[in-house]
Amino acid sequence: NAANKALISSLIRDIPDFPKPGVLFKDITPLLASAAGYRAAISELAASAPAGIDVVVGMEARGFIFAGPVALELGAGFVPVRKPGKLPGDVYTQTFSLEYGDETLAVHTDAILPGAKVLVIDDVLATGGTIGATAALVNRLGAELVAVSVLLELSFLGGREHLAGLGIDNTTAVITV
Ligand code: PRP
Ligand code: MG
Repeated sequence: NAANKALISSLIRDIPDFPKPGVLFKDITPLLASAAGYRAAISELAASAPAGIDVVVGMEARGFIFAGPVALELGAGFVPVRKPGKLPGDVYTQTFSLEYGDETLAVHTDAILPGAKVLVIDDVLATGGTIGATAALVNRLGAELVAVSVLLELSFLGGREHLAGLGIDNTTAVITV
């Protein structure tokens, strides 16, 4: 609702020139530190979810902060997508391009049952590389990517268009800037 969104927006802090000159970083730590703010963020993300979600997938590290509580809220399981070398079992990996170099994400090969209905949750949609790679991992597991929800979409970075090019058109954002 509008009150939640206003509260969330007021608790996201702009940090100029982080992590490098010219970048305006959106810092969610004030939001997380606020009991009412964190509650509002989880409520809005959960409210955006379609019915019948079996598993919420969250991406290391900031995605975990939101995906876990949303899974509890929905009565769904939680599956972590992690950076390389962290998961102990057999993994599928997916590499994608960042502005500088490549990034790889991994998921356990037995993390999700084939056909399970999946909601992917992350804090921020920027270029869409992280969500695109996560969607590829969900597909590799034979699960169904029902929806993607993010707290904050940086629309000027074109992530939504990148995802549309991958056939992902079910992304919702609580806040869009
Ligand atoms: C950040 C953010 C998103 C991603 C969005 O993660 O948490 O996951 O970037 O960018 P994209 O749409 O261009 O992929 P990052 O890996 O930088 O750090 P984290 O480990 O703190 O989540
Ligand atoms: Mg992240």
